[in-house]
Amino acid sequence: MIPVTQRPGNVIEKKGAPMKETATLSYRGRNFELPVHVGTEGETSIDVTKLRSDTGAITLDPGYGNTGSVESAITFIDGEQGILRYRGYPIEQLADRGSFVETAWLLIFGELPTESELRHFEDLLTEHEMIHENLRHHFNGFPSDAHPMAILSAMINAVGCFQKGIVEPDKTESFAKTAARLMSKVRTIAAASYKVSIGRPITYPRPELPYTANLLHMMFSRPNKSYEPDPEIAAALDMIFILHADHEQNCSTSTVRMVASSQANLWASVAAGVCALWGPLHGGANQAVIEMLTHLHDSGESLESFVAKVKDKNAAERLMGFGHRVYKSFDPRAKIIKGACDRVLKKLGIHDPLLDMAMRLEEVALRDSYFIERKLYPNVDFYSGIIMRAIGIPLEMFTVMFAIGRIPGWMANWRETTIDPKARIYRPRQLYVGPTQRDYVELSQRRGRA
Ligand code: ACO
Repeated sequence: MIPVTQRPGNVIEKKGAPMKETATLSYRGRNFELPVHVGTEGETSIDVTKLRSDTGAITLDPGYGNTGSVESAITFIDGEQGILRYRGYPIEQLADRGSFVETAWLLIFGELPTESELRHFEDLLTEHEMIHENLRHHFNGFPSDAHPMAILSAMINAVGCFQKGIVEPDKTESFAKTAARLMSKVRTIAAASYKVSIGRPITYPRPELPYTANLLHMMFSRPNKSYEPDPEIAAALDMIFILHADHEQNCSTSTVRMVASSQANLWASVAAGVCALWGPLHGGANQAVIEMLTHLHDSGESLESFVAKVKDKNAAERLMGFGHRVYKSFDPRAKIIKGACDRVLKKLGIHDPLLDMAMRLEEVALRDSYFIERKLYPNVDFYSGIIMRAIGIPLEMFTVMFAIGRIPGWMANWRETTIDPKARIYRPRQLYVGPTQRDYVELSQRRGRA
């Protein structure tokens, strides 16, 4: 084990330069000074960039729980206090007063858009909402029960093949067009994948509709029955998109950055992000939560017996929608969504027994010492599915909705890393624990394994 001590008094002094804090690493009888960097919110990190060249050793941090892979100016999270801010703006304010489209601009370009920037971006989103007509045939190549996340990822790469223009992440005007193309076409693909999965014709977008209302139209209008998006329902979904728009270096965003670090294009990087998001420990949890609540409702299993099961390490079952790598008090997004659940269900005149089930389950878990000691609280996925169900979004599309919301965050991170002159290809190391060197054995001489 390598003991590291961070001593505030341990400073490097250069004439005329501010004093810089360091941490001292004692290893095999030698001391190494490691620079300490402090972020704008006072968070500290110990810089191990030169660790291997100076000491011969690497850090070992499975799951990267203590590893800062980047310096980023996009999103700030304080997991202990339940704080989430995009570019400095509290999530509560953005969810209450902002729109998804302006939040996207904020994340990608760093500032809230002016009125003319917002109108321009909305126009660009409308201009780029169609996908190439040839792409409609691609949808027919998937089996009818294909998961829409698989279709979304494949189709983002397919659409990328049609995007021949130069991508200029360092030029706002030019990158705004790229960003609008991706955001807008992802929405069209998502709606089309749903239509194909239920055997209905793909619906074209309506240019007069705002971003989220247009998605609802493409999902629910039919040639023989038009669907007029309710502004309140569109606003609820818009808020869900805002809450999902970014979350710093989570699994899918790190995937986007990793793929981008090899200088892969934006479409390929985002398609990879969709795949990473799909898993039930990440974005796929919103679908898993509803499946869990439905099981509890239909089976009549008692909440106490279910909670006992998720605590049992041998049962391999978890309380889905609970726990978070970063949040150790509460997830502020879960708080906002829980509040919105009531409003949306009331407005729609829906009584959902799964919402009662979720609230009772939360109560049982939060009283239990297992969850208290491990600081496990409801995360964003615990209540988001209840609203999506109420809106009429089908279960398999829940994670796709998450992906639509996360596109701006992925783009902001892709842009940040792509224009960073110090960015390097992602290439973690490992501690090898396999066999040591041995000689090749001829096939005829290999003994069978029992
Ligand atoms: N149910 C039961 N036990 C849990 C849960 C849970 N949901 N989450 C964590 N634990 C337990 C673990 O078994 C472990 O117990 P131990 O210390 O006795 O071994 C302890 O809490 C720490 O858990 P880790 O798995 O080490 O936590 P990690 O940070 O790696 O995982 C994760 C975080 C993946 C979110 C986890 O809490 C989980 O699986 N939650 C359920 C899935 C989920 O809701 N995912 C969505 C996350 S939010 C998002 O991605 C948008």
